[in-house]
Amino acid sequence: MINFNYNIPTRVFFGKDQIKVLAKEIKKYGSKVLLTYGGGSIKRTGIYDTVIQILKDNNISYWELGGIEPNPRITSVKEGVKICRENDIDFILAVGGGSTIDCSKVIGAAFYYEGDPWDLVSGKSRIENVLPVGTILTLSATGSEMDAGAVISNLETKEKLGCGHPGMFPKFSILDPTYTFTVPANQTAAGTADIMSHIFEVYFNKTEGAYLQNRMAEALLKTCIKYGPIAYKEPENYEARANIMWASSLAINGLLTYGKETNWSVHGMEHELSAFYDITHGVGLAILTPSWMKHVLDDSTVNYFVDYGVNVWDLDKDGDKFEIANAAIDKTREFFTSLGIPSTLTEVGINCENLEIMAKAAVRRGSLGNFKPLKAEDVLSIFEASL
Ligand code: NZQ
Ligand code: ZN
Repeated sequence: MINFNYNIPTRVFFGKDQIKVLAKEIKKYGSKVLLTYGGGSIKRTGIYDTVIQILKDNNISYWELGGIEPNPRITSVKEGVKICRENDIDFILAVGGGSTIDCSKVIGAAFYYEGDPWDLVSGKSRIENVLPVGTILTLSATGSEMDAGAVISNLETKEKLGCGHPGMFPKFSILDPTYTFTVPANQTAAGTADIMSHIFEVYFNKTEGAYLQNRMAEALLKTCIKYGPIAYKEPENYEARANIMWASSLAINGLLTYGKETNWSVHGMEHELSAFYDITHGVGLAILTPSWMKHVLDDSTVNYFVDYGVNVWDLDKDGDKFEIANAAIDKTREFFTSLGIPSTLTEVGINCENLEIMAKAAVRRGSLGNFKPLKAEDVLSIFEASL
């Protein structure tokens, strides 16, 4: 039986030129803004100039934190907290991809915490309160624009960990697909893989009766499969960028998970790869996913893969169950490869050296996933199968 409370509080302004709402939305929450962004793409694309002009025209004071890294670091969080405290910041505006948004959320949380911000990420201390955050999304991938989570890396301890709090839901997100026209092909591909992985993490799940959630998940997967390659080849195709952008938000905002007992697995493994080798999140997921699927395929899971093969890849439903399942897994791998994503860890510079350490670290908070729970030895064999 499915029980849940629906609550997705982020206000979404979707479509071309929705930036027009920015000043009005900010003023609902504050007047002293920390503007956060990454390594400079927003300056090259002109979004930075547009935002600054709006802030100036509306007498909104702002401070800046640029240079937030892909796989954002706790050091950037600390820098942000310092600026917020010194200037009584009351609102954070994140302009960028998941890294900028995640870093901003944790700055907002750490603002209210006296100790080391890493405590909030590692789970040593609980997040109690968060400064309001709004986002202008420039890369469709993580869904951070409409969820309450954030993932932060600590280079010193070689850890990359997730944390969450209801206060981390962005208050609003401006989703203008034209802002993603400049996303390079490799990031478009990685983003599509990330969105699909978020769907897989909750679709492959044994909770009974979630028929609607499962069909919605299939619709989102089909959307990625249809539009990912178009966005990859035609970066300025509005329809493709728009569909991928909305899929990114819907994949992880809770809609597909309501009533299901979910516990993710491939993300836990991938975060170790990013923590050790600083690789692109979506690339790591695309490499591990087919190996994970093969690893968990057995009599107890085969029917789920048959649904996937038939409903998502349009495979013939009358064949042998395991043949359909294996064909669906092969289709998944071929799809990622068709987007130019490497298919082995070796191709991204990962060899057998740290696999055991990473496998142990991946299960530091317990077995991964509940579709078929993974222990350290399972993770290791998935890593080895992905070399
Ligand atoms: O840093 P800039 O110069 O802005 O360039 C970025 C960066 O190099 C570039 N980019 C972004 N928008 C662009 C653009 N380049 C040209 N035109 C644009 N419009 O793309 C590169 C990657 O950006 P990043 O923000 O790192 O990518 P993504 O959105 O994939 O975020 C990845 C991070 O999010 C975490 C990942 O682990 C990773 O750390 N995740 C967060 C989640 C969440 N909050 O719910 C869930 C995810 O599973 C994921 O773990
Ligand atoms: Zn992800």
